[in-house]
Amino acid sequence: MEKEKSDSARIFNRFAFWKGHQAEVESPSKSSETEEKNGNAVIDIENLNIYIRDNHILKNVNLTLLDKKITCIIGPSGCGKTTLLRSINRMIDTTEHLRVEGRVLVDGEDIYDRKAEITHIRKKIGLLSQRPTPLPMSIYDNVTYGCRIHGIRNRKVLDATVEKYLRGVNLWEEVKDRLHNPASALSIGQQQRLCLARGLAVEPQFILADESTSALDPISSKHIEDLFAKLRERYGIIMVTHTLRQALRIADYVVFMYMGEVIEQGTAEELFKNPQHELTKQYLSGVFS
Ligand SMILES: Nc1ncnc2c1ncn2[C@@H]1O[C@H](COP(=O)(O)OP(=O)(O)OP(=O)(O)O)[C@@H](O)[C@H]1O
Ligand SMILES: [Mg+2]
Repeated sequence: MEKEKSDSARIFNRFAFWKGHQAEVESPSKSSETEEKNGNAVIDIENLNIYIRDNHILKNVNLTLLDKKITCIIGPSGCGKTTLLRSINRMIDTTEHLRVEGRVLVDGEDIYDRKAEITHIRKKIGLLSQRPTPLPMSIYDNVTYGCRIHGIRNRKVLDATVEKYLRGVNLWEEVKDRLHNPASALSIGQQQRLCLARGLAVEPQFILADESTSALDPISSKHIEDLFAKLRERYGIIMVTHTLRQALRIADYVVFMYMGEVIEQGTAEELFKNPQHELTKQYLSGVFS
């Protein structure tokens, strides 16, 4: 009970910080209202700094990302959006000359703790990269790849998984008669949906999506966007987009970054209708892209 209270106070505290107010953490009714509004599980990023060689790429990032909500990350090219996403499930680890300072807490556990297990982290937080990256194997094997890594071998279970997740991403009807053909033969939009199915099949809690619709035609793009809107019922979605209209249509929360820093964050309505920072205003009005 005490923990619940302090968790909701913490979330409210962050929420109040977003709005630029002094936190009002002691009001239980407000805290629970806010918690209901905001969802449950969280990714808490605390004082995150990322350096690659001598370059300071992410600068003291503090963010709370919520389950069952869509958070869109916006900002000009090179501001650190991809680096941020890649640091949330430790895909960034593959970068040479990397130094990470600060903490990324997922349900209270620091993923940068020396004892943290990377496979477990990536199961919990899936990353969908900008360019779809189907594995060089069949459609079927792509979807079941994660399940097999996690030890599931039963053919019936795997068959059911393939159908369930391909249906989930609206790809089943298009590929059900060629499940054992190479995934590389699919169109880019189909590959993007296949990669999403592969990510969902390991039942993550959060999905990180890096400009997942940028390479798609408007119809395929709308398809993926609608899917995310539907997936929000079960997952926390953190999505990088360059399309402000998309963020406006889909986001619950928006984070604006500039040159490695989080400049402003808030509900989509607050940030789009009433941006506080001059840089946010300029970005939204198209002064720089
Ligand atoms: N492996 C790396 N080595 C050196 N610098 C890097 C590396 N990866 C990223 N950077 C630098 O970090 C900064 C942020 O890059 P990042 O890819 O995160 O930006 P972004 O906001 O995703 O940009 P875009 O919108 O163009 O995708 C850039 O200046 C980039 O050059
Ligand atoms: Mg990027």
